[in-house]
Amino acid sequence: MLVHAIPGNVSYEFAADVRAGLTRTGQKELPSKYLYDNVGSALFEVISHLPEYGLTRADERLLRRHADEIVDRVAGPVAVAELGSGSGKKTRWLLEALCRRQRTSYYPVEISHSALVMCERELSDIDAISIVGFEREYLDGLLEVAAYRKSGQRLFVLFLGSTIGNFDRPAGLKFLADVRRILEPGDSLLLGTDLEKPSAQLIAAYDDELGVTAAFNLNLLGRVNRELGADFDLREFAHVARINSEARSVEMHLESKRRQIVSIPAAEVVVEFLAGETIWTESSHKYSAHDVIETAREAGFRCEVQWIDEQWPFAENLLIAE
Ligand code: AVJ
Repeated sequence: MLVHAIPGNVSYEFAADVRAGLTRTGQKELPSKYLYDNVGSALFEVISHLPEYGLTRADERLLRRHADEIVDRVAGPVAVAELGSGSGKKTRWLLEALCRRQRTSYYPVEISHSALVMCERELSDIDAISIVGFEREYLDGLLEVAAYRKSGQRLFVLFLGSTIGNFDRPAGLKFLADVRRILEPGDSLLLGTDLEKPSAQLIAAYDDELGVTAAFNLNLLGRVNRELGADFDLREFAHVARINSEARSVEMHLESKRRQIVSIPAAEVVVEFLAGETIWTESSHKYSAHDVIETAREAGFRCEVQWIDEQWPFAENLLIAE
């Protein structure tokens, strides 16, 4: 696989985002996209195997069960672009179904280098596939993939695993509209969305007994230490998962166990945390099946089919660009 060069400004951007997020008045925050360095990506992989966290298995079940049907709906010559490929495991079903019908170009777009490498290892044995990975932000990567498009070829974009849930609702809509603008009418987007479920089930899923999600969350401070030379004492922060019923989301925070001062040299900042103060690190918004159809419509897509998992409410939505 050809992995395109890493943009050189990543750690500068990280430093700037850390500085902005930790010096703002009110709720401190760190963007959830930074959870996925090599350690974080490996921890998420473990989370996806936990009994309490059914999301990834539901996504995989739907893709395995309906792969042929999904692929038949996007008939004709297509190139596949996946936004946030992760390990690529669940994409196998779709790509195998497609490659049984035609030679297929697959373009994973992924900010995690290790995930991109894993994805290639996982999928390169499929017959009639060619893989070109892009180590890029989603929209930057998709723009490049769109530029590779051959005439008469359609784009089939995958945005699986309910990553869209990490955007708040207006940002999720804007993201879909941005994707739509890069596409042509008739192109398609397969969007995975986690559906609403009882609070107790969500809390269990985002604060598992084994503490893997806690480690996943705390690793963000570890990353700030490693990459920006900070002196966070990870033992002085606690993982918290809480329901935001107004936003219909589950949030992760890191709560400072006492008053403490942390310096982050590469971000040129010293930050004070009060006892009980939190850093907001992620929101996972949950959707109703109807929400998805409406949001898609506002973004310029028609929702052609929804496949829903009954065991762990989750929807695979096939959206067609209008
Ligand atoms: C990978 C974004 C779908 O929001 O459920 C898992 C990340 N955070 N446990 C999610 C996550 C805490 C996950 N997504």
